[in-house]
Amino acid sequence: MGDNRISGSGEAKPMRILTGIFLDTGCLEELRKYHELGVIRGVTTNPTILSREGVTGGWPGIERRCKEIARLVEPLPVSVEVTSNDPQQMLEQAITFSEWAGNINVKIPIHGPDGATENLKLVHELETRHDIRINVTAMMSAQQGLLAAMAGATYVSLFAGRVNNMGYDSRQELRRLRNLLDAFDSPAKIIAGSTRETLNIVEWFEAGADIVTAVPHLLETMLVHPYSKETVRQFLEDGARLHQEPAVGLARAAA
Ligand code: E4P
Repeated sequence: MGDNRISGSGEAKPMRILTGIFLDTGCLEELRKYHELGVIRGVTTNPTILSREGVTGGWPGIERRCKEIARLVEPLPVSVEVTSNDPQQMLEQAITFSEWAGNINVKIPIHGPDGATENLKLVHELETRHDIRINVTAMMSAQQGLLAAMAGATYVSLFAGRVNNMGYDSRQELRRLRNLLDAFDSPAKIIAGSTRETLNIVEWFEAGADIVTAVPHLLETMLVHPYSKETVRQFLEDGARLHQEPAVGLARAAA
């Protein structure tokens, strides 16, 4: 990934590699649509998304859908989240997911539901000893993101929409995390997630995210503009008129 490059504001600034828009979905139809447009660079899922998309049947059902998604967008990365909070089970699930497809990476929450902190130990172990790419998820602050990056996570996911929901400006957290990762030369990629409105996508990139993972319907409103519709309609109507009217100039020349 990372084939989209933008330069900084001045000549002296180095180019920063962006990885672009991911789709936050488990819906194959939506994925196919936006993948065919060539505008997505990866996929994120989580247990809530898969269950909302009607995935049932326990592990066989989860495995089938995740493999379908991975095959559909290969070689783009796909995040699959562990469904347990038990360290041994998380380790086993992570190894299993990574064996389902080469482009699957594993989502591990920053910590447990009661604040148990062993998850980063697992992140470190999976990245360094098992060579499995990890996306640390469910983070609400730059300081969490810094620790996840320090533990060796490939992706650090800030749930920017949820940060906004709590009354804080997620762009400040994203800027702060960007500055911290740059200051430490961290290779971790910042994912901004929990999109709530179309504007989130551009404003979170502007705030320093490498990736924004967007729900599909926001890409529709990002792409389709009422004035573009009207303009194209006008071109098509005038184009049709060109074909209907007699070719006056040509007729005169022939006479
Ligand atoms: C990101 O990877 C998550 O899947 C997602 O963006 C969470 O969004 P939510 O806050 O709408 O659950």
